[in-house]
Amino acid sequence: MSVLRIEPVDDATLEDWRSVHNLIIPTDPLSPDEVRERVGRNHLTVAYRDDVLVGCATVRPPTGDPATATVIVRVLPEHRRRGYGEEYHAAAVARARELGAEVIETIVLASNPDGLRFAESHGFVEVDRYLPPGDEYPFLTLRLL
Ligand SMILES: CC(C)(COP(=O)(O)OP(=O)(O)OC[C@H]1O[C@@H](n2cnc3c(N)ncnc32)[C@H](O)[C@@H]1OP(=O)(O)O)[C@@H](O)C(=O)NCCC(=O)NCCS
Repeated sequence: MSVLRIEPVDDATLEDWRSVHNLIIPTDPLSPDEVRERVGRNHLTVAYRDDVLVGCATVRPPTGDPATATVIVRVLPEHRRRGYGEEYHAAAVARARELGAEVIETIVLASNPDGLRFAESHGFVEVDRYLPPGDEYPFLTLRLL
């Protein structure tokens, strides 16, 4: 049974999406305008349990051959280990498949042990890593096998 209410990002939910993103990815804080720009090219959503903000997600539509989509789910630390990540991830992967994805990738900041464990236990393997200039932790790209 689904317990999350998953909403697309619009003017009412943009700040919720941004607050979760910037808390979990502190090395890449986004301004409201940068989030608006992403709304134009990605499927951004926020998730609530009742009316409590639980997390946010990004689905980058598939590109290339094979059609490869990127799915990133983020759950606030205080709401983790209750199954929300699993439910939200399944919904985000289903959305990517509806958009035609043949291959699913995700991106995890290397300083997020919860994210790495979750990705690996859900069948993802590392295929690439990128260290932004001046940053301490790389972003890992993992692919669903
Ligand atoms: C990855 C992430 C989304 C997982 O969110 P979550 O809500 O904790 O996910 P779940 O609760 O579904 O699963 C996490 C763990 O809790 C366990 N769990 C699930 N329900 C549970 C419950 N009721 N009681 C105890 N443990 C539970 C799961 O088995 C899983 O265990 P594992 O880590 O040993 O595999 C979260 O850690 C996060 O936002 N990380 C940073 C962002 C990130 O890296 N995102 C990319 C992920 S692909």
